[in-house]
Amino acid sequence: MTSKRAIISGVGHYLPEYIMTNKELESYVDTNDEWIRSRTGISERRILKDSGKGTSFMAEKAAIEALADAGVPANEIDAIILATVTPDYMFPATAALVQKRIGADNAYAFDLSAACSGFLFALSNGAMMIESGRAKKVLVIGADKMSAIVDFTDRTTCILFGDAAGAVVLEAGEEGGIIDFVHHTEGDEQCMLYQPAGGSIRPATEETVKNKEHYIRQDGRSVFKKATEGMADVSLEIMERNNLSGDDIAWLVPHQANLRIIDATARRMGIDKEKVMINIGKYGNTTAATIPLCLYDWKNQLKKGDNLVLSAFGGGLTWGAIYLKWSK
Ligand code: UT7
Repeated sequence: MTSKRAIISGVGHYLPEYIMTNKELESYVDTNDEWIRSRTGISERRILKDSGKGTSFMAEKAAIEALADAGVPANEIDAIILATVTPDYMFPATAALVQKRIGADNAYAFDLSAACSGFLFALSNGAMMIESGRAKKVLVIGADKMSAIVDFTDRTTCILFGDAAGAVVLEAGEEGGIIDFVHHTEGDEQCMLYQPAGGSIRPATEETVKNKEHYIRQDGRSVFKKATEGMADVSLEIMERNNLSGDDIAWLVPHQANLRIIDATARRMGIDKEKVMINIGKYGNTTAATIPLCLYDWKNQLKKGDNLVLSAFGGGLTWGAIYLKWSK
């Protein structure tokens, strides 16, 4: 086996057309635009309104765009990893539905559940498949229809989330690509951030539906504290391991959960604000999709050889960072 690096050769995305503004949310819950913008940085988010369409619909669109960008036919993909907490069904995997629809006939496909860190965990695992020589081309997707599990009568969560998908194609390359990653997990037995029912402990019943247990529950303050520490710590960890200073990094690509968490991470890394990808204002927190959406939005500004640090924190609890050199 040769020692190969996994490079990102294509990027794609999908955003639903419907824009839900902070103003609209004011008509559902006791909140206001000023509070939402100052506490989170969010002005609007996209919502997939079409009934009968789920996460796979958005993931498929993002995947097709990423394959076209890479110039890779779907039947050359060896594996599809789809990170999500809002699969179309508990099973089969949403990745399997996408595999069929895009015609990736030679790929095996599975979902990965690591909430807001899902895309990073999927990307590093896809990279390892390529580095090992077992796969030549891997499609990595982050997609979430958060509106399916958001309670639009709970002001502490409904203002935060949006729907979207992002995807990248990984291929073997000689230079650059995914160089290092650090990932962490700390099982959240206190249930700081979770969906209480619908799994095997509390299958759906009349009672679980009545109690709104199929919606996200979050202890915002506790998660905020953990996320602020975790995202900055893991980003510094990957910088130290690779002897990177803030000046060496062309772009920080942070998970978009809260602008204050992003700012604190950039400050601790010693990175100027102009080098931080921030699009939370337009899309809110799209869970597994935030990081590939940033790569898509900034793709025309990225230059070959740019050092990128990708960093995320989310439910699980999970957090991690990836150091990669842009190779396209
Ligand atoms: O991506 C996955 C990981 N998730 C995260 O990283 C999210 C982490 N958490 C957060 O981003 C923040 O904790 C929130 C944005 C969720 C909340 O912001 P906060 O500054 O931590 O507010 P808080 O929970 O401390 O609440 C402050 C006040 C409270 O009122 P009192 O008790 O001070 O009277 C809340 O009831 O703000 C109130 N509040 C609201 N007011 C207007 C909470 N939500 C709202 C709202 N509109 N939507």
